[in-house]
Amino acid sequence: MTAPTGRVRPLFGETEIAARVDRIARDVAGRGGDDLFMVAILKGSFVFTADLMRALHRAGARPRVDFMQISSYGAGMESSGRVGVIRDLADPVEGRDVLLVDDILDSGRTLSFARDRLLQAGARRVRLCVLLSKRVRRARRIEADFFGFRCSDEFLVGYGLDHANLYRELPFIGVLDGPPPEGGGSASAPR
Ligand code: IMP
Ligand code: MG
Repeated sequence: MTAPTGRVRPLFGETEIAARVDRIARDVAGRGGDDLFMVAILKGSFVFTADLMRALHRAGARPRVDFMQISSYGAGMESSGRVGVIRDLADPVEGRDVLLVDDILDSGRTLSFARDRLLQAGARRVRLCVLLSKRVRRARRIEADFFGFRCSDEFLVGYGLDHANLYRELPFIGVLDGPPPEGGGSASAPR
């Protein structure tokens, strides 16, 4: 396996991200979050989720958290839309007020799939929270209730976002310059 050779052009810095995460947490806490149940989509959202959870604490909330790992398989430049569960929740969501957390909203397939699944499992309410929202044509009619930044259709890495499972450790978010990711920006599997 060869490592990607692209260079990362910084887009959102640590301080900027921290300020946005605090802002999101205040919004979430301010709109009711007494029995908030965070469901984080792995792997991309784990850094954001950890920071958001602590920001929610500062904002006066007492969230619980669980994780779900989802894969989306791509074909060519477009994600095929086949989404599947790799790792399911450990805790029941029935009657819960869920805050579904992901790193980035792109075609919307991942979050749409996860939201439907949570509602089917009996969640009382599911609100969507993403750090990044790509300005692209969604394949699903879905928008985030809370988001950090809008971004253009470039391939981003850092702060949990990866290419080939690399770059997640970067404390900032940047654009991966270099060879285009295999299969296009929304088609790596699993993510
Ligand atoms: P969607 O299902 O097309 O909305 O894709 C959402 C998922 O694709 C996210 O959870 C990310 O893991 C991944 N993704 C989309 N765009 C990027 C990107 O620019 N960099 C890294 N991962 C991305
Ligand atoms: Mg992801």
